[in-house]
Amino acid sequence: MRCDEKSHSMTPQIKILRTVSQVRQWRLECLLKQQKVGFVPTMGALHKGHCSLATQSLKDNDKSIVSIFVNPSQFAPHEDLDAYPRTVDDDLRILDSLNADGKKIDALFLPKISEMYPNGITTEVSQQRGAFVSVKGCSEQLEGSIRPQFFRGVATVVTKLLNVVQPTNVYFGQKDAQQCVVIKNLVKDLLIDTNVVVLPTMREENGLAMSSRNAYLSQETKDRSSIIYKSLKRGEDYYSKAKGTVPSKDIIDVMNETLQHEDFEVEYLSISHPDTLEDLEAVEPGVGAIISTAVRVPRENSTEKTRLIDNIVLH
Ligand code: PAF
Repeated sequence: MRCDEKSHSMTPQIKILRTVSQVRQWRLECLLKQQKVGFVPTMGALHKGHCSLATQSLKDNDKSIVSIFVNPSQFAPHEDLDAYPRTVDDDLRILDSLNADGKKIDALFLPKISEMYPNGITTEVSQQRGAFVSVKGCSEQLEGSIRPQFFRGVATVVTKLLNVVQPTNVYFGQKDAQQCVVIKNLVKDLLIDTNVVVLPTMREENGLAMSSRNAYLSQETKDRSSIIYKSLKRGEDYYSKAKGTVPSKDIIDVMNETLQHEDFEVEYLSISHPDTLEDLEAVEPGVGAIISTAVRVPRENSTEKTRLIDNIVLH
């Protein structure tokens, strides 16, 4: 178990909804009772980050629903779709253990691929058929430059999920900073009637951002990977101490001193505008910035590397 479970019942109380029509029926019942609905979309392999989103949803809403769906369209053919951790039984126990203000997670949406992609889906973009959603302007840089189909896949599945669940509030983690910007723009541009709530990144004791992909790492690699957050903190400290406008290059130089590590491969280390994600020449108090990075770290007993992303917001 990865969340702080105090106790859990043998039979989970959560309703498991497998079809779009079951979720629509559940949502209609909430609507008729004028209940606020909170929604946490996930790909499963739940950790404390997901738990903090779900707990906030319990506090803010009358009813809360979580989805678990490993979305093929956000993976490239060479990525880890097949290997992505799938731990539904554990996830269900974790969700069932959550409790806030006397409320518990009411429903789990656990659709099959055919339910979400009635036309079928392949990770080969050129062979995909049907409707897809792109959010131009904030999907191409940073993560999008390394994973060109990623945000199209995320925006597509999130649009589908929001269409089905129609939540009052939907919850995402700041760890996926660019995903949050893409989804806020998606909701604004497509006039989707929901409130996007972004909550702080949850971290391991050593500072490593919690991620389902940390499951690929040994404790030793996790400890070594904590330099990613240390480097972000160094950048933040340098900026705060300057108490004024600071050239981005100076912040990056300071961070690189910590981040460069012999067998870590830094894919990008960028300082961007917090809303538009445009590259910033300098960080100005009041405007602020997101410092974001993606680092590939080696896996034990494998030639594969694991990509870890993290970010910190400057104000
Ligand atoms: O952040 C994630 O887990 C996924 O990208 C999301 C938002 C559930 C869409 O598949």
